[in-house]
Amino acid sequence: MDISEIRTDYVKSGLQRRDLNDDPLQQFTTWFEQARAAELMEVNAMSLATADAAGRPDVRTVLLKIFDEQGYVFFTNYKSSKARQLAANPQAALLFPWLALERQVRIVGRVEKISGAQSLKYFSSRPRGSQLGAWISEQSQPIQSREKLNRLMQQIKARFAAGEIPLPSHWGGYRVVPDHYEFWQGRANRLHDRFSYDLTDAGWQIKRLAP
Ligand SMILES: Cc1cc2nc3c(=O)[nH]c(=O)nc-3n(C[C@H](O)[C@H](O)[C@H](O)COP(=O)(O)O)c2cc1C
Repeated sequence: MDISEIRTDYVKSGLQRRDLNDDPLQQFTTWFEQARAAELMEVNAMSLATADAAGRPDVRTVLLKIFDEQGYVFFTNYKSSKARQLAANPQAALLFPWLALERQVRIVGRVEKISGAQSLKYFSSRPRGSQLGAWISEQSQPIQSREKLNRLMQQIKARFAAGEIPLPSHWGGYRVVPDHYEFWQGRANRLHDRFSYDLTDAGWQIKRLAP
């Protein structure tokens, strides 16, 4: 299929140096709030790129659940493919494709596990069904059938029939601690506005990048 004719000119908005907050976290917060106000679908969905020890890349969607001065936190299975890649190479890139606003944000940084106490706090806030799902899903492993999954769910429901569901040891959060950001705003004629932030000893350095 030749789809080379699909083409949109981006004219919604522009981005100038004086619009930018010196602190990329504040800038991200402003754009996140605008994306949220625009009622974008799954505004906190982000692409998470990782690479294994050999440098082979991988990417998938995860949900951003916490962001603050410490970094950007998502939750997952600590035995999944992404977890194995992060164990070998604890760095990641995040991409927020806020296309309806003709925007994207890219974030790169090192990755660390958050504490068990922090993971428990979030786990406890999840619906019971999601908590049970975290117990039974051997994420990224081959599984025989949907029926097998359903059977495991029935078994775990019976096991934790009453009371609180404990945090599985194989489940928790990772934090991406950024040292690089890029804010991209689409413009006409492909002359987009791009600004990068790099963390240096002197603080965050901002540069305009060619589109
Ligand atoms: C909208 C959306 C949100 C998702 N959120 C998460 C998430 O927060 N955590 C997670 O582990 N997987 C999430 N997934 C599933 C992942 O994309 C992926 O299938 C899974 O984490 C296994 O990835 P891996 O094999 O690379 O470890 C989400 C998928 C979609 C489409």
